[in-house]
Amino acid sequence: MSLHADVGILTRSSAEENVTGACTVRKLGRDDVDAWASLRREALEIHPLSFGASTPDDPRLLVEFVLARIAASDESAVFGAFIGDSMVGMVGILRQTREKERHKASLWGMYVTQARRRSGAGAMLLRAAIQHGKSWAGVAQIHLAVTEVSQDARRLYERHGFREWGREPRALCWEGRCTDSIHMVLDLRETQRSA
Ligand SMILES: CC(C)(COP(=O)(O)OP(=O)(O)OC[C@H]1O[C@@H](n2cnc3c(N)ncnc32)[C@H](O)[C@@H]1OP(=O)(O)O)[C@@H](O)C(=O)NCCC(=O)NCCS
Repeated sequence: MSLHADVGILTRSSAEENVTGACTVRKLGRDDVDAWASLRREALEIHPLSFGASTPDDPRLLVEFVLARIAASDESAVFGAFIGDSMVGMVGILRQTREKERHKASLWGMYVTQARRRSGAGAMLLRAAIQHGKSWAGVAQIHLAVTEVSQDARRLYERHGFREWGREPRALCWEGRCTDSIHMVLDLRETQRSA
């Protein structure tokens, strides 16, 4: 798969600002790791109940984490959304490694920086990750978990065909607030049949 997965135009008008710009989504490599780590830190700090991970005290841990995901195998990828040189969003996908679970891939770490939301970057990232998952022969479904508080994310996933199959009550608790986790799946066999 080429590094450039998708290119689109983001447009948005609001009382505060107008955002119009070309957005590129591509697979991340080693050179992107610092920008990814900084965006990931922002995501974990601003949305503690949207992600199971906590912000590590040591920033190098985030860098090590994504380096491991990028280097792990051909069946793990992280995508970034860029406007110019600036990374504004990210998402990861990886295939399960155990023999009986190789038909499954999992999506993780979806995030778009606040100032660039509601312009289509999240949809571009999601499409790139789904396309990548489909390129792994034998992968039949993509799984993810989204918390109840992450309503924007849930709508985004539903729009792209993900369906809820279960719910974990009080899956995450942080500073006195708890949220359920909704488990969703995209059946790639269905999307192929309807294509
Ligand atoms: C979930 C998230 C990644 C979505 O990113 P995004 O870039 O805003 O996603 P999109 O722009 O593709 O879609 C968001 C909305 O904007 C709308 N939109 C997209 N382009 C638009 C445009 N040009 N004009 C107006 N609206 C637009 C979409 O229809 C969608 O509307 P809806 O929420 O009413 O269904 C982002 O909200 C986020 O990072 N949230 C916090 C972290 C989080 O919850 N992560 C998920 C962890 S599982």
